[in-house]
Amino acid sequence: MAFDPAVLRAGLAVAERRADQLTTYFYAHLFAHNPGVRALFPEQLDEQRDRLLAAITHLIGRLEEPERLTGYLAALGRDHRKFGAAPEHYPAVGASLIAALQQVCGHSWTVEDEKSWTEAWTVISQAMIDAAAAVPADTPAWWEAEVVRRRRAAPDVAVLTLAPDRPYPYVPGQYLTLCSPRVPQVWRPFSIACAPREDGTLDVHVRRVPDGQLSPVLVNDVVPGDRLRIGPPIGEAVLDATSRRPLLAVAGGTGWAQVKAVVEQVVRDGTRHVTVMLGARADADHYDLDAVHAMVADCVRLDVVLAAPADGSARGEAVALLHEGLHRLGDCSNREVLLSGPPDLAPSVTEILIGLGADPELIRHDPVPRTLNRSRPLTAPERFLEERDVAWINRTELA
Ligand SMILES: Cc1cc2nc3c(=O)[nH]c(=O)nc-3n(C[C@H](O)[C@H](O)[C@H](O)COP(=O)(O)OP(=O)(O)OC[C@H]3O[C@@H](n4cnc5c(N)ncnc54)[C@H](O)[C@@H]3O)c2cc1C
Ligand code: HEM
Repeated sequence: MAFDPAVLRAGLAVAERRADQLTTYFYAHLFAHNPGVRALFPEQLDEQRDRLLAAITHLIGRLEEPERLTGYLAALGRDHRKFGAAPEHYPAVGASLIAALQQVCGHSWTVEDEKSWTEAWTVISQAMIDAAAAVPADTPAWWEAEVVRRRRAAPDVAVLTLAPDRPYPYVPGQYLTLCSPRVPQVWRPFSIACAPREDGTLDVHVRRVPDGQLSPVLVNDVVPGDRLRIGPPIGEAVLDATSRRPLLAVAGGTGWAQVKAVVEQVVRDGTRHVTVMLGARADADHYDLDAVHAMVADCVRLDVVLAAPADGSARGEAVALLHEGLHRLGDCSNREVLLSGPPDLAPSVTEILIGLGADPELIRHDPVPRTLNRSRPLTAPERFLEERDVAWINRTELA
C-alpha cells in the first residue's frame, strides 16, 4: 500500500470538524474548474455534502481491510454510471477534494498528506472506473420503472409497486436507488421489499422524512402511472444461500422492507427456521402488520416478535425494549443474522449478539454511512484553528 491510512485518518479528523467549510470549498472548486459537471448534481446540494463526506469517511475507515472495500467500490463504480460519471471526472473530483482538504487543514497540511491523499484517491478511483468499464454493454446505467400501485401502509409510509421496463435481476436483501423526474437528479437508496416475482414487479417501502427532498414526494405525490428511474441493485447484506443455520433478522422502522424480502425467500425455500424481531418507536409505528400476520400464519418455521413501547414513549425506551428482547434469545452461536434499520441499530445490536455468542462473520448488514460527527470535542490544535467569535462586554453591564 503506497499511502498511509494513519495520515489520511488524521487529515479527516481535522476536516470533520469543518465539514461545512470543506464541502462548500470542494463544490465551489469543482464547479469553477469543471463547469460541465454541475449538471450531473442535484440543484440542492446540502445533503450530498454530508453523503459524499460520509462515503469518504467510510472508505478511509476500511482502507486496511481491502477485501471488504473491493465489493463496495465495485458496486459504487457501477452505480455511478447512472450519474453520468466518466473516467475523466475522477481526477477532477479528486483534485477538488484535495484542494478543499488542504484549505481546511491550513498549516497542518504537509507534503506527506498530499502524497497519501493523491495515492489513495487514485486507487479508489481506479477500482470504481474498472468496475464501471466491466459492466456488460447490454446492462443499462438505470432502469425506467412504472409505478403500478401505491398503498398507504401507515400515515407516513407508502408501499410503491414498480414495474421495471426490462428484467431487473437482484437477490433478496439488496437495495436500489431511486429517482423521480419530480425531483431531478436526487437519488436515494431504498430496500427492495420482496423476493423476485414472476411478473417482474417489485415493492419499496418509503417513510416520509419531514423536510426531505425525495421521500415526501414519493409518499404524497407519486401516483400510479408515474415513471421513476432505478439504479442497479446494490447491497452486502445477502444471505448464504447454502446455509441451513437458523436465521435471526432484527429490523427497526422501514428496515422491515429488507427483512421482508429475505424472509419471503427463506420461507419459499423452506429449509431454515427464522426469528424476526421488529422494533418500532411506538405501537402505532409498526406498519404492514397484515402481511406479518399472514406470513406467520402460513409458515411454521417463522416466528415474529414485535417490540414497541406504548405510544408517546421516548425513543430510548424503544431501543431498550428491543435490546431486552435480544437478551432473551439466549445462545446465538449457531445463527446467521441480518440487521436492517437506522444507522445506530447495527452497531448496538451487533455488540449484544456477539455477547450472546454470535459469530461476527455471520452478522450481515449494509453499511449505512453516518453523517459526520460534529459533536466530538475539539482537540487542542483544532481549538486553536477554530474560528471564534470575539467576546463583547457591554461597558454599562460591567459598571
Ligand atoms: C442502504 C439504505 C437503505 C434504505 N432503505 C430505506 C427504505 O427501505 N425505506 C425508507 O423509507 N428509507 C430508506 N433509506 C433512507 C432513504 O434512502 C432516504 O435517506 C430517506 O428517504 C430520506 O430521503 P429524503 O430525500 O426525503 O431526505 P433528505 O433530503 O436526504 O434529508 C432531509 C433531512 O432529513 C434527515 N434525514 C434523512 N433521512 C432520515 C431518516 N431516515 N430519519 C430521520 N431523518 C432523516 C437528513 O439528515 C436531513 O436533515 C435507506 C437508506 C440506506 C442508506
Ligand atoms: C472515488 C470517487 C468517488 C466516490 C468514493 C464517490 C462516492 C459517492 C457516494 C457514496 C455518493 C452517494 C450515493 C448515494 O447516496 O446513492 C455519491 C453521489 C454522487 N456522486 Fe460520487 N463518488 C466518487 C466520484 C464521483 C465522480 C467522479 C463523479 C462525477 C462527477 C461523481 C458524481 C456523483 C453524483 C452526481 C452523485 C449524486 C449526488 C446526489 O445524489 O446528491 N462522483 N458519490
